[in-house]
Amino acid sequence: MQMEQAQRREEDYIAVGASGDLKEEQMMVCVVKNQPVLIIRNHHNLYAISGVCSHAYSELIDGELEGDKIYCSLHFACFDIRTGMPLEGPANKPLRTFEVKEDEGKIWVRE
Ligand code: FES
Repeated sequence: MQMEQAQRREEDYIAVGASGDLKEEQMMVCVVKNQPVLIIRNHHNLYAISGVCSHAYSELIDGELEGDKIYCSLHFACFDIRTGMPLEGPANKPLRTFEVKEDEGKIWVRE
């Protein structure tokens, strides 16, 4: 039973692009189960957070990446890309985070 669950969880990953498509300090948007997800490669790690700001509707792909932080382009809220937590207002709700990995030359995301 546990084996089946582990296998199913593994299958929940969705391939969203080729590893080579995302260079260091770049971002890309993909859609996972109808939700926009922002994938960020930073310091040789991958992060996956909601593609939309938690304050109002603004796409974070238009934001500014600065180290481990991303600034929303609309009202300049700042979030930690590693945790989705807001660091500066006006946003006070965290961004949703997603699991992300690289395997077989692809980037994979799951809820
Ligand atoms: S919409 Fe992002 S800070 Fe307001």
